[in-house]
Amino acid sequence: MVKYVNGKGVIGSFNKFQLTQTYTTFLILSTYEHNGEKKNMAVTQFEPVDARRCFPCWDEPAFKATFKITLDVPSELIALSNMPIIEEKVNGHLKTVSYQESPIMSTYLVAIVVGLFDYVEDHTTDGVKVRVYCQVGKANQGKFALHVAVKTLDLYKEYFAVPYSLPKLDMIAIPDFAAGAMENYGLVTYRETALLYDDQHSAAANKQRVATVVAHELAHQWFGNLVTMEWWTHLWLNEGFATWVSYLATDSLFPEWKVWNQFLEESNHGLTLDGLAESHPIEVEINHASEVDEIFDAISYRKGASVIRMLQSYLGADCFQKSLAAYIKKHSCSNTKTEDLWAALEEGSGEPVNNLMSSWTKQQGYPVVTVKVKDEKLVFEQSRFLSSGSCGEGQWIVPITLCCGSYDVRKNFLLQTKTESVDIKEFLGCSISKYSGGNDKYCDWIKLNVDQTGFYRVKYDEDLAAKLRNAIEKNHLTPTDRFGILDDAFALSMACQQSVASLLTLMGAYREELDYTVLSNLISISYKLERIAADAVPELLDNLRQFFTNIFQFAAEKLGWDPKPDESHLDAMLRGELLTALALFGHEQTIKEANRRCLAFLDDRSTPVLPPDIRKAAYVAVMQTVNASNRSGYESLLRIYRESDLSQEKTRILSSLASCPDPNIILEVLNFLLSSEVRSQDAVFGLGVNWQARETAWTWLKTKWEEISKIFDSGFLIGRFVSATVSPFASYEKAKEVEEFFASRVKPSMARTLKQSIERVHINSRWVQSVQKETTLPDAIRELAWRRY
Ligand code: BES
Ligand code: ZN
Repeated sequence: MVKYVNGKGVIGSFNKFQLTQTYTTFLILSTYEHNGEKKNMAVTQFEPVDARRCFPCWDEPAFKATFKITLDVPSELIALSNMPIIEEKVNGHLKTVSYQESPIMSTYLVAIVVGLFDYVEDHTTDGVKVRVYCQVGKANQGKFALHVAVKTLDLYKEYFAVPYSLPKLDMIAIPDFAAGAMENYGLVTYRETALLYDDQHSAAANKQRVATVVAHELAHQWFGNLVTMEWWTHLWLNEGFATWVSYLATDSLFPEWKVWNQFLEESNHGLTLDGLAESHPIEVEINHASEVDEIFDAISYRKGASVIRMLQSYLGADCFQKSLAAYIKKHSCSNTKTEDLWAALEEGSGEPVNNLMSSWTKQQGYPVVTVKVKDEKLVFEQSRFLSSGSCGEGQWIVPITLCCGSYDVRKNFLLQTKTESVDIKEFLGCSISKYSGGNDKYCDWIKLNVDQTGFYRVKYDEDLAAKLRNAIEKNHLTPTDRFGILDDAFALSMACQQSVASLLTLMGAYREELDYTVLSNLISISYKLERIAADAVPELLDNLRQFFTNIFQFAAEKLGWDPKPDESHLDAMLRGELLTALALFGHEQTIKEANRRCLAFLDDRSTPVLPPDIRKAAYVAVMQTVNASNRSGYESLLRIYRESDLSQEKTRILSSLASCPDPNIILEVLNFLLSSEVRSQDAVFGLGVNWQARETAWTWLKTKWEEISKIFDSGFLIGRFVSATVSPFASYEKAKEVEEFFASRVKPSMARTLKQSIERVHINSRWVQSVQKETTLPDAIRELAWRRY
């Protein structure tokens, strides 16, 4: 029974739950094994709009109420809710559990979990009891998350200058869970992969995921739960902010992980999605409940977090923190709009924050800032960046930062108009000869968007770009700036504003790169280029792969296959990504060695030759050798999948299976994803199929559409099926075919994703045509492939 009280009196109560089989509804029926027996657990998931399906209520974030919950459950089970238990009365097979009345809160944060669990427990310095619950027998795997949670609660208490507001915090791993995690007040639910960490079998990347997800959900206990967005239009306040703060907390706990460098990957996803015409503003109009699911996307999370970071770096960390603390204090237990946050920051800083930030949150897209040297002047010009290469509308207030020749020569200003030019000598206090001389000694670089804290792209004139390339080769730039230059060049190339030949030449400047974040981006760019080249210039594919292999071998050889004693977290993550890339680009030695190590692992799951950080790489390598007449590698991976009870291991295998280049095997893999052996939440991991099987995946999607749309119903996962299968195409005919197929099948929860995927196909098509016209590309690729570094 749930009683909800608004202000003075009880305004309603409800006492019947209906268990349902599909997990996209408000009540998840999750299954697990205990002593060889299949068991059920019941878990609520209300955000965004499903509390109304459980009990009658004003189910909008601004209607806050207090909740007094009572449950009748089988007496042998553990029953958790937002608040601590005040009374338990056993009555035969059933017990009645009553919970303390909650403070005032929104309906989407109410939660209940019932099942059999183990737990580990600790306390914050304030004495708040924190527990991590998990399946019976897995309690040890909860210890890392528990440590992170206790430390993070202490940290947020300092940062927000308000203590955690409930008497307890429970965090629980749910085997079937569509989202990554959910911040229910005092009872946070997680996927197993986002909460559990196994010393023996989890990878460094899994550990980092657990830390950032815990930090994200705990940030919501303040930003979201205590102070809640007034309407879904302001969802980004919750999600963008929690994403940003999760980096702050993780960085404070694990500085050696350099997560602020890795944050660039978040920004990058935001920039990529927001480079589409079918993007949406951060503050997006929501008219119907069915539209809410879709805005839990890279705009709300990643662009949201990035514009917060941009603002923090403009205002300064100290002023930013103090203003936030004032905001939390002022709006505790109530609701806010985006303007309320700006008002607090305006008050704290004296800067016109509302004006500055409205251009980023009310308007979709972002600018590309073009910079060139002309007649002793630096000329800046802004226009909307679109991956389609079209000219977009819009103007932003852009916090420009730049460095010149060294990180000691730094300038900042706000670009408020379309164009602005400054006298170099006056602006930088040095002479133009520095920028125009062919002599290396004077050949200094200018880098805009220092440290990549701004949410915009930069396009340099040819001369400035050449100087930056030189600075990269000489290792004069920080990893974040090396990342930014590469990433902007890639985006401009995709928009056909820069040739692929020049992008590849730039990539050659990274041949001695060792930084995790930079290499990781270099790798993902090389995957995308491979796909475009496969359509545009298939005869050059082998040469292109050779070039990429040459670049990645430098770092791969330094790292080797086996972990070094006391090596860094980042090297451990990097090794896996490099070996995966080498395997995918067909590097024979890597594939052979991976197969050898996998065989040893099949014999003995605790062998030291296949530590968790390289397992995915080894699985991918094995799948490169699999085809209809050589299935043994595939069967072996399925065996590991079936025998492991660690979700992270299962996920690793699913995402590796899809890398097989053989379309017949891929068809088997896709069918396996829909089988009872794969939890529905995990099917999406197997969808990123090798580009050689994209046609197979699309045909499969069409054939299985009825089944898929039934399983995934209205949730956000269905959009992933669409984007994963549609986006890899690169022809206008295919875009048309996709449009026709979905004309009668589109659902509100995937409408925007479908449009975005089709736009991506158009962008790819245009890019392919442009690459085919690049007359200098074939020679450039051949030259790069044969160059030995
Ligand atoms: N509030 C969300 C959970 C959510 C997502 C509810 C989508 C309804 C729809 C939660 O705080 C969240 O953001 N979870 C993320 C993980 C996070 C670390 C980025 C998720 O589920 O992916
Ligand atoms: Zn969140």
